[in-house]
Amino acid sequence: MKAFIFDMDGVLVHTDRFHYLAWKEIADARDIYFDERINDRLRGLSREASLEIVLERYHGAPLSAADKAALCAEKNDICRRYLAAMTPADVPEGVRETLEELCARGCRLAVGSSSKNTKLVLERTGLLDVFDAISDGTNITRAKPDPEVFLKAAEFLGVPPADCAVVEDAEAGIDAAKAGGFIAIGIGPAARYEKTDHSIHEFSDLLTWAPDLT
Ligand code: BG6
Ligand code: MG
Repeated sequence: MKAFIFDMDGVLVHTDRFHYLAWKEIADARDIYFDERINDRLRGLSREASLEIVLERYHGAPLSAADKAALCAEKNDICRRYLAAMTPADVPEGVRETLEELCARGCRLAVGSSSKNTKLVLERTGLLDVFDAISDGTNITRAKPDPEVFLKAAEFLGVPPADCAVVEDAEAGIDAAKAGGFIAIGIGPAARYEKTDHSIHEFSDLLTWAPDLT
């Protein structure tokens, strides 16, 4: 293993909460039933694919493509208000220290996130400089479970997928990692997913998997 590719939302930072709150506000305003269990199905999916799941409980007048685009834009505006208010204090304990230790051991580090807000979050939380490469929703055409975002991250790092571990909290992300030929490490909900190669409970548990390449 020479490199680690990290999903961002729900792995590096708890922005999964903000995505939930934004969808909840959209759903409540339209009398659409939405809860955390439904929200778990949105993990890792694109904004547009997430909306389709939220709309499974919608019983109003048919929505045009323009209506759906407007809902996605509104959800993103709400979400970005939360994201823009983030600070380095929002990085969970142990995350920055673990990333720095992986770096010190000579491992290459990348982010592989479906989010088009990746750079905003990494800037606000002071994590941007820790990574050698960022692959996100702005450089892909197919979202997870397609492996494109991770394959791009590996390409940016110059490391073959078989030598990279992907760290994910989403089943869609584990599917993407396996489809791309990566080692899949699950944390949070993905730690219980049967396709996960290795499960970790704390972010710092990664150090037990990381080689010293120095
Ligand atoms: C993923 C999140 O990382 O990014 C999803 O897990 C989200 O919940 C997706 O829908 C797209 O994010 P954004 O910020 O581009 O809407
Ligand atoms: Mg995630």
